[in-house]
Amino acid sequence: MEKKTIFSGIQPSGLITLGNYLGALKQFVELQEEFECYFCIVNQHAITVPQDPATLRQNMRNLAALYLAVGLDPQKASLFIQSEVPAHAQLGWIMMCTSYVGELERMTQYKDKSQGRGETIPGGLLVYPPLMAADILLYQAHYVPVGEDQRQHIELTRDLAERFNNRYGEVFTIPEIRTPKFGARIMSLQEPTKKMSKSDPNQGAFISMLDDPKLVEKKIKRAQTDSDNQIRFDKENKPGVSNLMTMLSACTGQSMEEMEQAYHGKGYGALKADVAEAVVNLLQPIQERFNNWMESKKLDDVLDDGAAKANQRANETLRKAEQVMGLSR
Ligand code: TYM
Repeated sequence: MEKKTIFSGIQPSGLITLGNYLGALKQFVELQEEFECYFCIVNQHAITVPQDPATLRQNMRNLAALYLAVGLDPQKASLFIQSEVPAHAQLGWIMMCTSYVGELERMTQYKDKSQGRGETIPGGLLVYPPLMAADILLYQAHYVPVGEDQRQHIELTRDLAERFNNRYGEVFTIPEIRTPKFGARIMSLQEPTKKMSKSDPNQGAFISMLDDPKLVEKKIKRAQTDSDNQIRFDKENKPGVSNLMTMLSACTGQSMEEMEQAYHGKGYGALKADVAEAVVNLLQPIQERFNNWMESKKLDDVLDDGAAKANQRANETLRKAEQVMGLSR
């Protein structure tokens, strides 16, 4: 039986966070065993807001090394850079022409990111979701492993694929979202009602995958909690404590009930110490492998190879789409 296909991507737009890992990367590593996988460094998405060229280049390299360091195996998964597969921009245009301005303006990420920009909202922010749809549909992906914040974009992708298929015939597989049980939405350490984000100006709000152990301990120690000192999972009333419990659960596999029992009568200090230890234990071996990959010449070979495989698969789908639309001769 043919393997089903997985596609996902991460923006090289800053330091990759523990949220990105628990929401997305961790799933990628598990899924590569069973599925045909494509994992992309979505640099064309990153330029929807201005990027410093040297920093962007560095961030792309960092993300490639991180993909490998968390355990992605280039024998099992194609790892590549979006702009090295021109079909993304080409099908992206087709998806922009398939979408309606009304539905794009309704995207919450667009609303958040365009706030306060008045006349100078970059056009790319509005048409970001059709490009994301193209990313996914080019590979005929069955599943898209992402964090909870991407749900609306995946729903739009499904709508665009269905709209296209209805108009021109069955070209695209309709993809399904895949979110992890714990860790699909890791919250900011400083404002636990907001998601942890790599673009947060407050460095204390997120844990970077490259933070050293001392810094991880410091950030977790300072994480916002509440004043009742009871360790109980209750996202609504105790968002900070619940976020720490979610992080611990995603790192160690313990359930919320197990934790509530284990920490009965103990204070937040004990929980924070254990969360810090679990995160440090998770990050240390990843950081070691990251440093090795950053020094390795093989990193470029992995990306060349990934782009070759991705181009092949993506072009097949692009040709089909262009053919049914009457774009090709
Ligand atoms: P990006 O780069 O913001 O985030 C990468 C992945 O990390 C997840 N994530 C989180 N998960 C849990 N808790 C958090 N606090 C958290 N923050 C981020 C995201 O859900 C995502 O899975 N639009 C996408 C990139 C993209 C893409 C695609 C994804 C472009 N094309 C096609 C899938 C398929 C984005 O900005 O992710």
